Amino acid sequence: MPFKDVDAALTAAHAYRAQAYAPYSNFAVGAVVVGEDGTFFGGANVENASYGLTICAERAAVFHAVASGRRDLRAVAIAGPPERASAPCGACRQVLREFNPGMDVAYTASGAVVQTTLERLLPDSFGPEDLR
Ligand code: THU
Repeated sequence: MPFKDVDAALTAAHAYRAQAYAPYSNFAVGAVVVGEDGTFFGGANVENASYGLTICAERAAVFHAVASGRRDLRAVAIAGPPERASAPCGACRQVLREFNPGMDVAYTASGAVVQTTLERLLPDSFGPEDLR
């Protein structure tokens, strides 16, 4: 299924990217997760002098949605440095998967936009159903 409102979601992700705190990597990322009703919940990466405590934009966006009472996530849009690709990291794929293993994914990549699904990015995944 095509990612509904992908342009608006990427525009919002770009706006969140401007809030990134990435003084160590200079790799600013913004992300929005999209609720079933189309609501956007945004996040940006936040680094730390103790490097391992860094949080990625995608996880910040998921935590924003969940803390806002929303778990019905249908898509994620990710905006990274324009000259690079910003596919979600493995940790973020797993965190996104918790709420929808089939969600639509769009990310910027060298001036283009890649549209895919979480199922493709994280096949044969482990999730909450496996604990039931
Ligand atoms: N980063 C994200 O925010 N999302 C990703 O999917 C990849 C990496 C951040 C983490 C770190 O602050 C910087 O980008 C470089 O890895």
